[in-house]
Amino acid sequence: MKDFILFSGSSNVPLAREVAKLLNISLGKVDLQRFADGELRPWIKQDVRNKTIFVLQSFSYPMDEHIMEIVLMGDAIRRGAPETMIAVVPYLGYARQDKLHRPGEPVSARVIAKFLEVSKYKEVITVDLHNDAIVGFFQVPVTHLSALELLAAEVKKVVSSKNSIVVSPDVGGTKRARNLAYALDLPIIVMEKKRYLDRNDVTESYEIIGNVKGKTAIIIDDIISTGGTIADSAKSLKDAGVTSVVVLATHGVLAGNAKEKLIGAPVDEIVITDSINVPKVKFFPRLRMISIAPILADAIWRVVR
Ligand code: R5P
Repeated sequence: MKDFILFSGSSNVPLAREVAKLLNISLGKVDLQRFADGELRPWIKQDVRNKTIFVLQSFSYPMDEHIMEIVLMGDAIRRGAPETMIAVVPYLGYARQDKLHRPGEPVSARVIAKFLEVSKYKEVITVDLHNDAIVGFFQVPVTHLSALELLAAEVKKVVSSKNSIVVSPDVGGTKRARNLAYALDLPIIVMEKKRYLDRNDVTESYEIIGNVKGKTAIIIDDIISTGGTIADSAKSLKDAGVTSVVVLATHGVLAGNAKEKLIGAPVDEIVITDSINVPKVKFFPRLRMISIAPILADAIWRVVR
């Protein structure tokens, strides 16, 4: 087995600890110090020479700080001559900016990929990218994991009836919904969502094609950010006659007043993963979190075994 260390940035220490526990190791020692003006000064306090180094960091809020952390940690580690360095990014923030939506904008996901490469990460392990094609933005190998099986297992616990449908709240999520529908042996419907380019985070859910009356709708999405997509699609589904709505999403961004919006939405249960460290205050009784630590630990194990 390869000699390896798992370091954690500050974005999701509970998940990093859980992964370390499953691998039967302790997290690597790092001090993420800051100068008085906020400037970051990471200090790797372990010998990394000839070792396989993993750095776990979710690009969650404040994402720019978290990205800078993994970049500077990368530079600090590579100066210690490791065998290789692998970025473990459970949530790749900026992934929604994966194309030029209008002239004058960056393709930010591509820039983020570059950041990791210039910091000398030789591989990336990530989970449920907003768009599979983002893998192509990286010059280095990417292991793109999915939480779908874990989420499907949760659905089986709460939805007993076969009278259910899998719903993608937008066309972009069709593949994701199709995979879940296949895993659960259920039909799928796709809703049409409009996003206003001049108003960030504002969406409207539109048409439902197909008969949903009397069914349980299982909405699957990659991200819940403001909660707008879920609240709007759940309402449209309810208006169309579904009896209950269960929501599955990998990344619980839960920005701004998402909690309030979701509490007010006609949703019976929401299951997210711990790809993002969601603060306790953002939880409410119908929101449940499952852990992706097993799939991350397994991916790390496959590299080092
Ligand atoms: C966008 O296409 C994504 O797949 C999600 O639907 C979106 O990020 C959710 O954002 P919000 O919760 O703000 O509607």
